[in-house]
Amino acid sequence: MRDVISDSLGGLADRRSTWLARRELMEATPSGKRWRGHVRGQLYHTARHVHDYLRPTRFFRWGARRALALDITELTVSFPDLPAAFDGYQILHLTDLHLDNLDDTAAILAECVAEINSDLCVITGDIRDNIHAPMAPLIARLAHVVSSLEANDGVLGVLGNHDSAAMLAPMEDLGIRMLVNETISLSRETEQLHITGLDDVHRFETSDAHAALETSPDGFCIALVHSPEVAHRAAISGHRLYLTGHTHGGQICLPTRKPFATGLKRHREFASGQWRFEDMIGYTSRGIGACVIPFRLYCPGEVVRVTLRRGEMQAN
Ligand SMILES: [Fe+2]
Repeated sequence: MRDVISDSLGGLADRRSTWLARRELMEATPSGKRWRGHVRGQLYHTARHVHDYLRPTRFFRWGARRALALDITELTVSFPDLPAAFDGYQILHLTDLHLDNLDDTAAILAECVAEINSDLCVITGDIRDNIHAPMAPLIARLAHVVSSLEANDGVLGVLGNHDSAAMLAPMEDLGIRMLVNETISLSRETEQLHITGLDDVHRFETSDAHAALETSPDGFCIALVHSPEVAHRAAISGHRLYLTGHTHGGQICLPTRKPFATGLKRHREFASGQWRFEDMIGYTSRGIGACVIPFRLYCPGEVVRVTLRRGEMQAN
């Protein structure tokens, strides 16, 4: 991966150090107003209590089995300005793994991705479910997934709202190139593809994330962001493709697949699947794992392989 990827910004260590201190402070501070944080905490504990109560039931086991079933989605996106050297380039998009929730998630995902060839793998956050859960078992499960991947240009990652700053170093030790409001460039022949990855913008949004979008290089740029909530900023700053997750497609849906909740503060219209914002194509994956309650209904998880093509702008 080192041969094809270079960091486009200098001063990485200093920027990371400043980010780390700020992120850890935000993690220690209840999100939103005090009462809102309290209500969220109560809802989380209530959901866990309901989960513990339902766990022995056949209905729960049925829902958990559905939460572990993964679709493989093939998405082709075409752009007239895609550098010709990247025509046919394939990106495996994984998101919302929540590996500490259902025990079998990592093994099932590892088996699934071992069958999928791609040039690059991107992970757009929520590797964990409980931000305070022990690190070592989580990283061991992630290592199992990463060792099963077949991606010549390696793995890129960004953090989600369930992920802690402390995960950055152990994830990079696994060979995942983490992007914290940073842009990297992939080179093929004489051409380049730029990829900007942001820290989570749902709970941990900062002006540094906005600045990373606004200062991305000229040329073909892809945004990796945990949630669709800054799609407008990415489109305005010239990004052409936006890969994201966070919503789980609703996770628990009506039979029509309409979600009860999206977990989005902005751009709720981009809760699932492909979408377009001005000259940018986006894809919101339903993700892999399940959040808080290890249960999915009418909303299977998915891994997505994106194929880039040069041609008239479209997605299918
Ligand atoms: Fe998630």
